[in-house]
Amino acid sequence: MASNDTTLDDLLTPAASENPHSVFAALREHDPVHWSEPHRAWLLTRYDDVSAAFQSKALSSDRIRPLRAARAGRAAPASDRILAMMTEFMVVNDPPIHTRLRRLAAGAFKQQRISAMGERVEQLVDSLLDDFIVGGHRDLIGHFAYVLPATVIAAMLGAPISDRERFRHWSDELALVAFGAGGETRAERHERALAGLQDMFGYFRELVDYRRREPGEDMLSAMMVGDERGDALTEDELVAMCALLLFAGNETTTNSIANGVVTLLEHPDEFAKLKADPRLIATAVEELLRFDGPIKVLNRWVVADFELRGRTIRAGDRVHLILAAANRDPCQFVEPDRLDLERTPNPHIAFGKGIHACIGAQLARLETRIALQRLVTRLPRLRLTGEPLRWNESLASRSLAELPVAHDATPSSAAPGPSTGEGRQQ
Ligand code: HEM
Repeated sequence: MASNDTTLDDLLTPAASENPHSVFAALREHDPVHWSEPHRAWLLTRYDDVSAAFQSKALSSDRIRPLRAARAGRAAPASDRILAMMTEFMVVNDPPIHTRLRRLAAGAFKQQRISAMGERVEQLVDSLLDDFIVGGHRDLIGHFAYVLPATVIAAMLGAPISDRERFRHWSDELALVAFGAGGETRAERHERALAGLQDMFGYFRELVDYRRREPGEDMLSAMMVGDERGDALTEDELVAMCALLLFAGNETTTNSIANGVVTLLEHPDEFAKLKADPRLIATAVEELLRFDGPIKVLNRWVVADFELRGRTIRAGDRVHLILAAANRDPCQFVEPDRLDLERTPNPHIAFGKGIHACIGAQLARLETRIALQRLVTRLPRLRLTGEPLRWNESLASRSLAELPVAHDATPSSAAPGPSTGEGRQQ
């Protein structure tokens, strides 16, 4: 592919959203360091290049400040306010700011705390499935995968579960800005997202106040403790951290579950193996994340010129790291287009790599494993309905608009006992 060939490098066409992997394969094979005019960015598709990029000091994660600077004086006030609020998120900061924030947040993600959530997540999943079956629902995203992560993060932050609908709403509003989804104009999107963000920041400020007075066993209380050097997150930093955790963990985990289900249903032989041996779930989830994970593309800004495969990439350029392409690179994975639920080792980079590697990966794994495991057990005849699947046109995320399924389970097969109504919060 020539570097000025724009027929295959617009990743937002309906065809590319439908089947991104064939576009990625062509780029990876013929032009792995490709300048895309439609995106005004370099597209990196090889595993080695994407992995190295995660470690490179020539690439910066500080992607909001340059955007703000470029739009200075031209941006609508709402849009500028949102960007100012998002500037505080650790994921868009470089060292030393990032190093400090990550160190202070890390205590909340200790393995012990995540593992201790297992039973709670299992109860939530079962209760959502009860409601899914009893309610006769068909869309496994709207009535299951969409609801679970917001509920879990609300519980982990020590917020009342009854607030999870608000959590989900705020996260959706922020996604409108971050991923450019939705049918409105940019100004309308930004007005709505700003209202949502302000609401969310106000909510978390109150929660922080409350937890300072009444510390609990939750993540927020853990993040308040500070480190042995006497350093601790400020109130503003705690609020921004809660907002980031909510945002970063919601849509990704929803799509991890939904994409996992679709991939399994489209590979009946592998699905049968998982049904026969539930112990495969750990390697199965890693393979599903590799095969069709929820994040296709991450952005970086170039801060120092560098050469890659004969191309000069200059300071000020933008780079798209295509995780979904790297995860199917034949130089790294044997038969990368084959789903193999027992694949080991499986060094996929669906959770990123380097200093920004997903801090919530263990929680995401726990939720995805339990969700898929309980689905397989409770709905063994789960299948696609044959209706065409609609993939959202998004550069960053691999996500379905909805996931219609059939399953034959009857209300009497739902677990006995009163329903908690967990699945009816849409
Ligand atoms: C399957 C689900 C998930 C996937 C695929 C995923 C993927 C990622 C990726 C690729 C990054 C790196 C971003 C970058 O380098 O710019 C990241 C960072 C992050 N993720 Fe996740 N994530 C998931 C779930 C979660 C959950 C459940 C949480 C928290 C509750 C979370 C919180 C974060 C945070 C805070 C960061 C920023 C880390 C930093 O900047 O140091 N993620 N995630």
